[in-house]
This record gives sequence, structure tokens and C-alpha cells, in this order.
Amino acid sequence: MKCIKTTLACLMAVIVFLLSGCGAVNSDTKSTASKESTSDTTVKSTKTQRHKVIIDTDAGSDDAAALVLAATSEQLDILGITVLYGNVPLENAAKNALMTLELCDVEAPVYIGAKKPLKKEREEMISVHGEDGMGDQDLIHPKRSAEDGDAVDFILDTIKSDPGEVEIIAIGPLTNIALAVMKDPDTMKLCKRIWVMGTTGFGAGNATPVSEFNVYSDAEAYDTVLRAELPMTVLGLDMCAIEEVMLTNDEMTKMAQGNAKGVYMSKAFTKLFAFEQENGNNMMIPDPIAVACLIWPDMVLETKTCYGEACVGNDAAYGQIVLYQKGSIYEAMPKIGSYNLEVVTKIDAKLFMDGFMSVMTD
Ligand code: RIB
Ligand code: CA
Repeated sequence: MKCIKTTLACLMAVIVFLLSGCGAVNSDTKSTASKESTSDTTVKSTKTQRHKVIIDTDAGSDDAAALVLAATSEQLDILGITVLYGNVPLENAAKNALMTLELCDVEAPVYIGAKKPLKKEREEMISVHGEDGMGDQDLIHPKRSAEDGDAVDFILDTIKSDPGEVEIIAIGPLTNIALAVMKDPDTMKLCKRIWVMGTTGFGAGNATPVSEFNVYSDAEAYDTVLRAELPMTVLGLDMCAIEEVMLTNDEMTKMAQGNAKGVYMSKAFTKLFAFEQENGNNMMIPDPIAVACLIWPDMVLETKTCYGEACVGNDAAYGQIVLYQKGSIYEAMPKIGSYNLEVVTKIDAKLFMDGFMSVMTD
């Protein structure tokens, strides 16, 4: 009888251990998947499991800061960069990405993608990042050129060659991603996860009161990607508007006196910082925070599981992403897709800023 009890007790212990190790990023609770395990074995396996990523970017100055964080992280294996219109014209985006990679001694290939949105005409707007997207400081003289291939083909070929392993960090409009979904939806279903800087999250927009710039640039692209129901982690503008993750004169001064990356970025931020200061604000840096969600997972304190619906009508709601939280009263309503979005709703601001300034000044 005793051995049966002992066996049962052992069995229960095994079940409890297995369950405790199966945490996932839960809505409304502290993210557990991002918590590094204390056991050496798990930590070692975590260190060897670098994320294989493609970074899709419209290569303005905050995108460049995101590329610096990505290029200097042990967590990422950058397979390639795909660029598109957005902050700046396409040719500037390619050069800005190439120059930033060169600064960080990273040889990842750069592929050129969409030069305009899926449907609407690209609106020429003042680039708050400067004419060249990098503060107009004569910084951009890359030695390398972009690859001859097309960005969408690079995305599809890379995912197809390593099914279930490749992740995309999307920090501009989603036009390239939408074109890949439209061209080969089955291959895009093999993408492990898309980490997106975009949407207002649960806050206000910066392109319109209800729309964030990356979505507003091509809401039809967001609609296409959302309907593909790919696993996505979404960093909305609301998280970037937290005071403690915005750059002030103090950080700008420290960066200007920092290492080569800090000096480069303080110059690249010249125009964006001036634009924000003229409006009485400190400077948001959305794209590096999006990269930090992946390279510094403990920064993400909470996510909400949602599904999202893009507004693409010809009205004031254009570019709004309506986020329906799982488990809310909206569950009863008819849905377009699944609850495939993990929307970041709490971050450790100090962890981010300490990490960001360390990359720029140590
Ligand atoms: O709204 C902020 C986003 O729009 C950032 O990605 C910025 O670089 C611009 O692309
Ligand atoms: Ca961007």
C-alpha cells in the first residue's frame, strides 16, 4: 500500500513540475514565458536559442535606434533587413539601414520593398526625422548597397527555408508583410511570430486621434495581416508615451558624450527631438521599445490577448485598430478572426531605459 502512495505522490510531483514549467504569456497576468528560468540548464538553452529575425523597417531615426539595439544583442540572429516607404522615401530608408548596420559591424543583407501603400496614394508629408530621415546631419554614406532581390521574396524564401523558426520585427507600415501574405499565405503561416510596433494600443494616436502612423500609412495592409491570423505581439503607441521611456535633454546629452553608437544616434535624433521639443514634449522612441520586447523579455510585465479589426473606411476612423480583449463582454459579438494578438499593456520602463542608455554609452 505504501509504495502505491509513494508512487502516486511522485506522479503528482511530476505533474505539478510539468504544469509549473508550462507558463505562457497570459492576458491580464504577469508574463511568465518571458521570465528566465533559474535552473542553469534552462538558462543555458535560452542563451543558445537566438531568435532568427527579419527586421522590416521604414528606417527613420527611431528605427535606426531599434537596429542598433538589435545589432548589439546576443539574443538575435539578424537574417536580413527589409525596407519600405514610411518615415522617408524608399531610397533613403535603404541607405539609413545600411549605414546603421555598418556602424554596428553587422553584414546582414538589406532588401528593398514597397515604395507605396497597397491602395491609397502615399501622402508626401514632412518627415519629422529630417529630409534624410536621420536628422540631416550628413551621417549617411554607406559603403554597401541593398541586394538586388525583392524584400517580399526574401521574406517568403527565408521563412520557407526554416519553417516555424523565423520571426519578423515590423517597425514600419505593414505593406511588405501584407504583400507576402497575399503572395503566399501558406508560407506566411510558417512564420513563428511577428513583433509589431504599431496601433495606438489602448491609447491615442499620433497620425490622427485614433490612428498610429504605421497603421495610418496603410490600414489596408494591417487589415490583410490581421485577417491572416498570424501570432503577433503588438507594442502600441500607448506604451511609448510613458514618460519614463521618452528621451529628455539629459539622455540626449549623455548619448552625445557616449560611444560611437550614442554619438551617431544623438545626431540622427536631432530633427525628431527638435520637433518634439517645439511641441513641448520629450521624445518618444517607439521602435527600440518594440525590439526590447524581444531582446529583454523581462521588460514585458503584462500582455492582453486580443483580436484586432482594422478600420479602412474613407472616414475619420481610417487607420484605427479596434482591439477586442479576450474574456471581455465583447466575446458575444461576431468576430473576423482569432485572438492572435498579444498586446503589451505593462512594461518595466526603468529596465528599458537603463538597457537603452547602456547600449549607447557603455
Ligand atoms: O508611430 C510611430 C512609428 O511610426 C514608428 O515606427 C516610427 O518610426 C514611425 O514609423
Ligand atoms: Ca518606424
